[in-house]
Amino acid sequence: MKQKLGNVLITGGAGFVGSNLTRFLVKNNLADKISILDNESVGSRTAVSDFDVEFILGDLRDKNVVMQALKGIDVVIHLAADTRVIDSIKNPRFNFENNVVATFELMMSMVESGVSKLINASTGGAILGEVPPPVHELMVPNPLSPYGASKLAIEGYSSAFAEIYNMNIMNLRFSNVYGPLSFHKGSVVATYLKALLNHSPIVVFGDGEQTRDYIYTEDLCKGIVQAIQSDLSGVFQLGTGVATSINQLINNMKAVIGDQLAINVEYKEARLGEIIHTHCDISKARQAFGFNPSTQVREGIGYTWEWFQG
Ligand SMILES: NC(=O)c1ccc[n+]([C@@H]2O[C@H](COP(=O)([O-])OP(=O)(O)OC[C@H]3O[C@@H](n4cnc5c(N)ncnc54)[C@H](O)[C@@H]3O)[C@@H](O)[C@H]2O)c1
Repeated sequence: MKQKLGNVLITGGAGFVGSNLTRFLVKNNLADKISILDNESVGSRTAVSDFDVEFILGDLRDKNVVMQALKGIDVVIHLAADTRVIDSIKNPRFNFENNVVATFELMMSMVESGVSKLINASTGGAILGEVPPPVHELMVPNPLSPYGASKLAIEGYSSAFAEIYNMNIMNLRFSNVYGPLSFHKGSVVATYLKALLNHSPIVVFGDGEQTRDYIYTEDLCKGIVQAIQSDLSGVFQLGTGVATSINQLINNMKAVIGDQLAINVEYKEARLGEIIHTHCDISKARQAFGFNPSTQVREGIGYTWEWFQG
């Protein structure tokens, strides 16, 4: 963890993962300078306003802004994206332009600026579709949404740009991330904790036995830093390797929060098209750069709930 990353540009740094990463880098003194480029379409600079970072309000699709932001940068951590699967189905063109075209333009600007190190936030589940778990990097991709297709396209351009322009590009496939600063997210942990704050029931679609791989933000941020420090290229799955069902998640919430509030659970009909079981195999990242997430779901829910309570 000691080796510093130099001058870091985080695209989408005002969002959920980006603001957690900014805190992690500052807390551990891991960067000489942090610049954040975000158009505040989803995130807000208030998430990082307590820190000594350069905030650039701008859109990735604006070449002048991107070229300016790249000045003096050693590594780009590219998190900005339209991350909502349902929105990508409703408006695939917007998703394509915001994710694929913008990332392609970012890579072109990096080539022009002589910045050669790029870390992309990718995804396992949405790229691979319905496959028997654990998912891993050697599986054949089969995206089922424009969002998943956009991330796969970015992985394709990464491979090509790394080869042609001698760039060092990594694609980190995050599993389901949860943790502080996620109030705006529609992911399951954030949705449930918001329901609890409102004294509303938690809604489960199906029997609650569907499983996911939930990674706590601090473990993810540590993995991103280890990945950058390794100087490797390619695709790596970052999750916990542990499958947790919705019912187990709720039992953990009951254990952490149950004495403060009543937790009512409503079971509704399963949603069509929802993947039933997925978790990932993290052995490639473990072997390559010592990735070793250690936060248990119960512990992580405790920290997240603490943050949600303000
Ligand atoms: N959160 C997860 O569970 C998860 C899982 C897998 C992959 N990812 C990936 O991680 C990355 C970060 O996700 P997140 O959960 O923090 O999402 P988020 O929506 O909280 O953050 C994304 C940020 O990007 C900004 N942004 C979007 N389009 C932009 C543009 N064109 N120009 C400038 N800024 C722009 C938004 O304002 C927002 O602050 C995304 O690429 C996402 O696909 C997240």
